[in-house]
Amino acid sequence: MENFNYYTPTQVVFGKNAEAKVGELVKAQNCKKVLVHFGGNSAKKSGLLDRVYASLDAAGIEYVSLGGVVPNPRVSKVREGIELCKKEGVDFLLAVGGGSVIDSCKAIGYGLANDCDVWDLYEGKVAPTGAYPVGAVLTIAAAGSEMSNSSVITNEDGWYKKACNTDYIRCKFAIMNPELTYTLPQYQTQSGCTDILMHTMERYFTDVDTMELTDVIAESLMRNVIRNAKILMKDPQNYEARANIMWASSLAHNDLTGCGAVGDYASHKLEHELGGLFDVTHGAGLSAVWGSWARYVYKHKPERFAQFAVNVLGVYNHPEDPERTALEGIEAMEEFYRSIEMPISIKELLNGKEVTDAEIDEMAEKCSQGDTVITGHFVPLKKADLVEIYKMAR
Ligand code: NZQ
Ligand code: ZN
Repeated sequence: MENFNYYTPTQVVFGKNAEAKVGELVKAQNCKKVLVHFGGNSAKKSGLLDRVYASLDAAGIEYVSLGGVVPNPRVSKVREGIELCKKEGVDFLLAVGGGSVIDSCKAIGYGLANDCDVWDLYEGKVAPTGAYPVGAVLTIAAAGSEMSNSSVITNEDGWYKKACNTDYIRCKFAIMNPELTYTLPQYQTQSGCTDILMHTMERYFTDVDTMELTDVIAESLMRNVIRNAKILMKDPQNYEARANIMWASSLAHNDLTGCGAVGDYASHKLEHELGGLFDVTHGAGLSAVWGSWARYVYKHKPERFAQFAVNVLGVYNHPEDPERTALEGIEAMEEFYRSIEMPISIKELLNGKEVTDAEIDEMAEKCSQGDTVITGHFVPLKKADLVEIYKMAR
């Protein structure tokens, strides 16, 4: 196993009615003025925003609001947020929403603390030296941004989707009330479950020898998410299932399930190009490409895929033929995705649209930065490999 540095500074306040504590949590940050950042209509419609404002009012906190963050959040909204915060003297950022709103908040936090165009940080032209503090009231269990070191932003100028990852932007606190996720459409719930699984799978499919404890935690988390995703297909108001999924979203992406490993993240990189070009839901984009990625790379270490098949999916073990067990595991995973109505090809993801060769080339070109950057770690992939995987997934 690899040496590791495990850093999770986020205070988690979990459970029914947890959002009522937002005022006192913000107050403890000793800030002067807060930006309340949110997405489309869901937080308004559910009454959550009003409850957040009431809690801030009760704690005597001054605030300004900025809504309109869209899924695959845009850098234009981030720039608008930076300008507003400068004008208003904002020194704390509160995200009320999902990964997109939290990531947009984190990007504003970067922009306020670094004297450059914020996109330069996402392009890797400038390394961030700090960030304004962020807190979150989570409304969807999925991206894990509430405890991750990551922010993913889309630039409409060329449709690039890129991440900027540092410990500066880990949330100060995350408020998680599973009941807030009752209003999610089933497609978003299940895309979220898919993303949660993938955050652990990206860490699990590693080229290095792993730590037994990390494997055991990862495998039980994945089994738990699969079981509860199935429960939510039939019973979306099941509090226990919502609670398990919400906590899994954080644990799958706060590095707990990757201690001692080196993550792969090729499926995420492949998906980010789909998200950039076609504006698809992130989790659904992941299930659309994962099986093709897995079939392209599993022969590198079939025993690892066989372990996943047996320990996570309950596939029958053929000890004399790990490749067979591995392949049956990939099929079982795709069967699970089907059972929760997630796509397992790009055509299904795009509702019947065939992705063209030119679009595949564009995605592979952007992902590999003109064939100068390697994607993935389990098997390092060049541009030609990415083209092949997209073709298998089409
Ligand atoms: O905008 P509203 O009206 O709120 O609607 C949202 C949005 O349409 C809706 N929604 C959220 N909570 C709801 C709700 N609808 C009803 N009831 C609720 N309680 O759900 C839709 C999706 O929201 P979004 O925030 O986009 O979802 P998610 O959390 O999946 O975030 C996806 C984004 O996070 C990035 C993805 O690439 C994508 O841009 N990721 C961020 C990561 C990170 N920062 O660590 C890691 C991930 O791998 C991922 O890349
Ligand atoms: Zn993800």
